[in-house]
Amino acid sequence: MAYRAGIVGASGYGGVELVRLLSAHPAIEMSVIAAHAQAGEPVSTLFPNLAGDRRFDAIDTDQLAELDVVFLAAPHGPALELGAALHDAGTKVVDLSAAFRLSADGFATWYGEVHPRPDLAAGDDAHLTTVAYGLPELDRGASRAAIRDATLVANPGCYPTSALLSLAPLMDHVVPGSVVVDGKSGTSGAGRAAKDHLHFAHVDGDLTAYGAPAHRHTGEIERWLPGESGPISFTPHLVPMPRGLLTTAYAALQEGVSAADVDGALHAAYDHEPFVHVLPAGSFPHTKALAGSNGCQLSAVVDPRTRRVVVTSAIDNLGKGAAGQALQNANLLLDLDETTGLSAIGMYP
Ligand SMILES: NC(=O)c1ccc[n+]([C@@H]2O[C@H](COP(=O)([O-])OP(=O)(O)OC[C@H]3O[C@@H](n4cnc5c(N)ncnc54)[C@H](OP(=O)(O)O)[C@@H]3O)[C@@H](O)[C@H]2O)c1
Repeated sequence: MAYRAGIVGASGYGGVELVRLLSAHPAIEMSVIAAHAQAGEPVSTLFPNLAGDRRFDAIDTDQLAELDVVFLAAPHGPALELGAALHDAGTKVVDLSAAFRLSADGFATWYGEVHPRPDLAAGDDAHLTTVAYGLPELDRGASRAAIRDATLVANPGCYPTSALLSLAPLMDHVVPGSVVVDGKSGTSGAGRAAKDHLHFAHVDGDLTAYGAPAHRHTGEIERWLPGESGPISFTPHLVPMPRGLLTTAYAALQEGVSAADVDGALHAAYDHEPFVHVLPAGSFPHTKALAGSNGCQLSAVVDPRTRRVVVTSAIDNLGKGAAGQALQNANLLLDLDETTGLSAIGMYP
């Protein structure tokens, strides 16, 4: 018997990628694909790749609470409310928003709001029994156990996923306070809603930074980097491509740390991982190679002149950066093989 899933926010970019992935999942069926303003509209009107008669459902919390797992792919405001209600009803939830990724204090700092349910804020260590931060590869894979046991999984942000995968295995080797992360994302990272600065005429042929020095993902990267990272600098950029995300992370190496130490730490963390691939020295990852997949490719070089390590990492912002990772987490929550429905490799060229 298939597990029954619901998607809230199925009319958004993260939600519709979940619809695409779950269409091919052998053990999870989509019982509810709910939208907000688009409820009742045919799915194919918005997304021509999903032909057929199915329409977006309305959001009904009681109906969602009966399902085996619910994906929340909505803004963090409604996700706070729905996530808490479903958690309290005992329903397994994977939330793609930032509602539960930080501590209550961190949420107040970076989102400027009082967290209505501090007991469900994953960044507060005391409450990690039913809530988990959903980056399975973190802590050399040890965070999987917390995800499996959780009721509510806070799926990481797209930039934090790429930055944390790049840096987490290296934090024993780098100088605290020296981390700088430069991120670049395709425009689907900003969601489906029409915004002036995302019009083709604005974006095409352009490259620009935004959000520095206090983009909200800065706090999430700092919270989930192991050890004492110290404050980090993070600057995201908007790139004229529909999907794909690349981060370049720089950090000063501690005295005596060699390129072989860096290489060894990354391979020890990821050689057994199904979705994270360390490229050979001299190769650099391409966003296009990850499109449509749940993969992450990364590579590190050590600059002997500056004594800095430079790690470049590519993901699909809608894949490992959102829907793919959410499905990986749902597989863990449902005790399925973590890779189920996620075996597609990227489309290239
Ligand atoms: N895009 C990415 O690359 C990415 C990556 C990681 C995480 N995320 C996070 O994932 C979430 C969804 O992002 P997205 O890019 O998919 O956004 P999006 O394309 O703008 O879609 C937003 C979705 O939320 C629904 N929605 C809006 N207001 C709602 C409300 N009050 N109650 C319930 N649903 C509501 C919308 O429904 P209607 O269309 O019917 O109004 C739509 O389905 C966000 O929290 C975002 O931060 C996105």
